[in-house]
Amino acid sequence: MTIKKIGILTGGGDCPGLNSVLYGAMLKAFDEEIECIGISKGWKGFMENLTTPLNIADHDDLHTVGGTLLYTSRTNPFKELQDINDEEKKEERKKEIAHEMSKHFDELGIDALIAIGGDDTLGVADALYKYTNAKVVGCPKTIDNDLMGTHYTFGFWSAVQLASNAMDNLTTTARSHQRVFIVEIMGRDAGFLTMYSGISSGADIILIPETPFDLEDDVIEVLKRRANSGHKYHIIACSEGAYPSNDSLNRDFQTISKETIEKLPKDPFGNPILPKLNMSKILAKELDLREDLRDVFKENGVDLEVRSVVLGHTMRAGTPNAFDRILGLRFGLAAVKLILNGEFGNMVSLQGNQILTVPFDEGVKKKYISAESDKIELRDLMVEIRYKAREIQQ
Ligand code: F6P
Repeated sequence: MTIKKIGILTGGGDCPGLNSVLYGAMLKAFDEEIECIGISKGWKGFMENLTTPLNIADHDDLHTVGGTLLYTSRTNPFKELQDINDEEKKEERKKEIAHEMSKHFDELGIDALIAIGGDDTLGVADALYKYTNAKVVGCPKTIDNDLMGTHYTFGFWSAVQLASNAMDNLTTTARSHQRVFIVEIMGRDAGFLTMYSGISSGADIILIPETPFDLEDDVIEVLKRRANSGHKYHIIACSEGAYPSNDSLNRDFQTISKETIEKLPKDPFGNPILPKLNMSKILAKELDLREDLRDVFKENGVDLEVRSVVLGHTMRAGTPNAFDRILGLRFGLAAVKLILNGEFGNMVSLQGNQILTVPFDEGVKKKYISAESDKIELRDLMVEIRYKAREIQQ
């Protein structure tokens, strides 16, 4: 079948570089004499046939603009499945929903669809393809970089740079007031953003979800040794999904318990909304309650003062950096090529410096920082050697 019209949607949290993907796809589609239409608000717009025109003549340099022209949402057409326990019934209903969804190709008048999103949005695309053979291809997006199918997602490096700059900048006020700053960084249950921006800006403690922390050993003790070795201010990079070990939670925490975390509300895809926990604020309270820490600071001429800063959505804001613009453009171009080659059910992927293809079911799996990662070694060295080197000097 000749492809005459392609629909494109962006789902999940917005991300610098989404418009770059759109522009890359529009360039290739125009050259192939294929019409592009935008589907507004992710899967919500797909189910409700909401469209946005994508006329390339109106959008010179769209790849340099942050956010998404198409609007986005976290709508999950399969949300109701979360309430079905019987696996057989679940599977049956999943099939039905996928078939209901596939009718929208005709209603929207599109021959193929490019879905741009993270594991949630592409998980929906995967089911749509699996059950109906729909002509859908994917493009991995998330500032969190937590998708198995690609070495990097666009948006990640822009967000890392924003967080790294924020922590660089916070050191001047931390130094002036001799304070402890706990900086909360997005990333859900993956620590890539916190690890990369923390190492890049030289944060003094880096807490990520992949390595549950011990409040006593990894925070209080480090702060004491830093204070005793002459450090007067401290920056803690704390992932929004950073989580204490169960032992530490039971033993060291005065303001939260396991239930606090279990009771968190969930988003339409069933993910606990971790920012609602505000681990940076919890940690600030816990440190503030520690008289032993206050005493050690005092002995070193510093009044213990702790502040928390939640970077939140500032990390997704603004224009994409050069890397993300180029990656977005390359992904957009490659997604249209997948359609032209009839390679549906696949997503584009960056492997090394090459743009390759990965089947949805492999690509949408979640990726985390592995225990063997050199970044973990680097983090641990950076944290410890700062105070150990000064201790030897004293
Ligand atoms: O998945 C991307 C992300 O930015 C996460 O890092 C963060 O937890 C979440 O989205 C925030 O979602 P929302 O924009 O819905 O508040």
